[in-house]
Amino acid sequence: MSAVDAVPVLELKGLSKAFGGLRAVRGVSLKIMPGDRKAIIGPNGAGKTTLFNLITGILPATSGRVLLFGNDVTRWPSHRRTALGMARTFQVTSLFPRLTVLDNVLLAITGRRASKFVMWRFLSSYRDVYDKAHELLERAAFLDRKDTEVRYLSHGEQRQLEIVLGLASDPDILLLDEPAAGLSSGESAEMARFLQKLDRKMAILLIEHDMDIVFDVADDISVLHFGEVLESGTAERIRSSAKVQEIYLGTG
Ligand SMILES: Nc1ncnc2c1ncn2[C@@H]1O[C@H](COP(=O)(O)OP(=O)(O)O)[C@@H](O)[C@H]1O
Ligand SMILES: [Mg+2]
Repeated sequence: MSAVDAVPVLELKGLSKAFGGLRAVRGVSLKIMPGDRKAIIGPNGAGKTTLFNLITGILPATSGRVLLFGNDVTRWPSHRRTALGMARTFQVTSLFPRLTVLDNVLLAITGRRASKFVMWRFLSSYRDVYDKAHELLERAAFLDRKDTEVRYLSHGEQRQLEIVLGLASDPDILLLDEPAAGLSSGESAEMARFLQKLDRKMAILLIEHDMDIVFDVADDISVLHFGEVLESGTAERIRSSAKVQEIYLGTG
């Protein structure tokens, strides 16, 4: 393995966020290597969404650093992080319900042209954009539903489609904030299968309350509690951790 391969896709160093006196995220450090599938779990109010917003650049950090491929992006706006290879999901509200799945993907790709210079150069014709949309849908095993209007998809499928749109920028790392939130247990299991099938070369950082989906998708899990990483390790280690059981089940 060369030295270039050894650069983490994403690294957090002592990342913190305070809202007035409330320290929502406290000194979080972690490293994600190419293709890693990592999860951060924690109960409601643990600071998961705040951490997600710090990583993606929606909120400024109070202290600490965010590195993308070794570049300090702590003060960078979201769109510059996207251009360097970080993607996050869109909200359901960003889907066009009366347009087909394919049209939604086409719009997501062309909408990116302005912010992603590389794509602006490569996608010089409609044919290129169309081929790119096909390829994205194929990779996500969504091609069979390309002509379906989005409003006829199940809620779970719409959540998956949001993720497909996030893949339009060909990210090296995909950040997901509670992709299974609001889904039934059957839809959550489908979401887990969908995530497992995504390109293994792409790293995934999954931020999630629901432990089951995390155990199916992530190889490495960190537990956030009152803004701090309480425990890290394999699914086995997390499952058997007394500290984790205590915060999730209130036992101890
Ligand atoms: N914009 C904000 N202003 C003030 N407090 C906030 C803000 N966003 C989140 N918080 C607080 O920070 C803590 C962590 O919230 P959040 O990151 O949403 O947790 P989680 O996603 O794990 O449920 C909570 O106590 C929440 O009330
Ligand atoms: Mg949250």
